[in-house]
Amino acid sequence: MDTTAPTLDPARVASGQPDPIDSLPADFRWGVATSSYQIEGAVAEDGRTASIWDTFCRVPGAVHNGDHGDIACDHYHRMPADVALMRDLDVDTYRFSVAWPRVQPGGRGPVNPAGLAFYDRLVDELLAKGIDPWVTLYHWDLPQELEDAGGWPVRDTAYRFADYSMLVFDQLSDRVRTWTTLNEPWCSAMLGYAYGRHAPGKRDFEAGMHAVHHLLLGHGLATQRMRAAASGPVDLGITLNMSTSTAASESEADLNAARRADGLGVRIYLDPLVHGRYPQDIVADLAARNIELPVRDGDLEIISTPMDVLGVNYYFSTQHSGVDEQGRTEDADGLPVDREVPFGRPRTAMDWEIVPEGFTELLVRLGRDYPGLPMVITENGSAFDDKPDESGFVADDDRVDYFASHIGAVARARQQGADIRGYFAWSLLDNFEWAYGYDKRFGIVRVDYDTQVRTPKRSALWYRDTIRRVRNAG
Ligand code: NOJ
Repeated sequence: MDTTAPTLDPARVASGQPDPIDSLPADFRWGVATSSYQIEGAVAEDGRTASIWDTFCRVPGAVHNGDHGDIACDHYHRMPADVALMRDLDVDTYRFSVAWPRVQPGGRGPVNPAGLAFYDRLVDELLAKGIDPWVTLYHWDLPQELEDAGGWPVRDTAYRFADYSMLVFDQLSDRVRTWTTLNEPWCSAMLGYAYGRHAPGKRDFEAGMHAVHHLLLGHGLATQRMRAAASGPVDLGITLNMSTSTAASESEADLNAARRADGLGVRIYLDPLVHGRYPQDIVADLAARNIELPVRDGDLEIISTPMDVLGVNYYFSTQHSGVDEQGRTEDADGLPVDREVPFGRPRTAMDWEIVPEGFTELLVRLGRDYPGLPMVITENGSAFDDKPDESGFVADDDRVDYFASHIGAVARARQQGADIRGYFAWSLLDNFEWAYGYDKRFGIVRVDYDTQVRTPKRSALWYRDTIRRVRNAG
């Protein structure tokens, strides 16, 4: 193993400035994150039934290269070794998700003990290695039967989610303190139902908006029930993917485009979750398209059930214009134009621009607009076209730079008053990157998919050394 990983941010050394990372407190939480469908494999074992991703992967052209999660990182069979890998990295927290179709095949009815047992073993293994388990209940693998019954655009799915959550909570809450209901509901609703880029592949904007409300309702119902059932302290929350959406100019059209992007990316989730109301401007924009959120009496009280922690996933920021290249402000359907205007920054292999200061800005703004809610960075990371040497080692300096600048951005946001308690790297392993298949690698540990051999990259060693440095400085 190469131990010459850089432990210092080269830009800082050059500038002689103190590394903002060193301002993080010794008790800052450090973790790695994964999700069930992206790493587990074993899709037909121990009673698991199909999820919408098993189905979507079989749709010709839906996923790059026809890839699927049948084997993925084979984590289901290699879990103890993967936990040992985490131990070697010195992380204190592992954020993983539970596969609903393992625990409750078909999405309703009794628990499947064989499926739940996997997570029982995982939690015990983590605790034995001194790693805190952080459970995400839903990371996009909806049981196919529930999709056949209408999926997230249908109200009943929210109630099914709360029932399923309790099956997991009842079994694991004696050992798991922190619970995230949903991962990135924007992706479930918009990529899944409005834009068709993720499972189940629907292209219906109104269905996407209905999904937003029912996902939030499911979060609220599950949160209420877990809170009521808890016999000790628990930390309950949700994870949202967010960006800073800036206007490309001060023109009214551009300012409006940025407002709409922020409204549909941040405020449509956090306003109901924290303030118990949907943002008026977005409700009006939707009304102009004859779309109404399917809100019933009492829903907003349920959705705004107090949370203990907000999970923030950040990858990039965007700049928006309301005018297209031909100077028009409306598209062919009469909808306002939203054109992304590049900042002109270097990009990752996902083609996402690298904008660390957008992260600082986002976190400071969240602290200001939604005060009193501690935040943890539940995902941040980057895909690059890794080139392993003959021994399989990846000297991924571009990923190290991404981590250094983004963890620095988190530290700066803390210095400006944002209450951020921890940071989890996405991801422990290279894994199934949804519609991009295995082509895009986000891992700090390389996975050779032919042999399933894991090799920590330079970024893993840098991350380990950074964690040790910060922890020991306190
Ligand atoms: C966020 C998602 O939660 C995760 O599943 C995905 O792999 C990363 N973004 C990278 O795109």
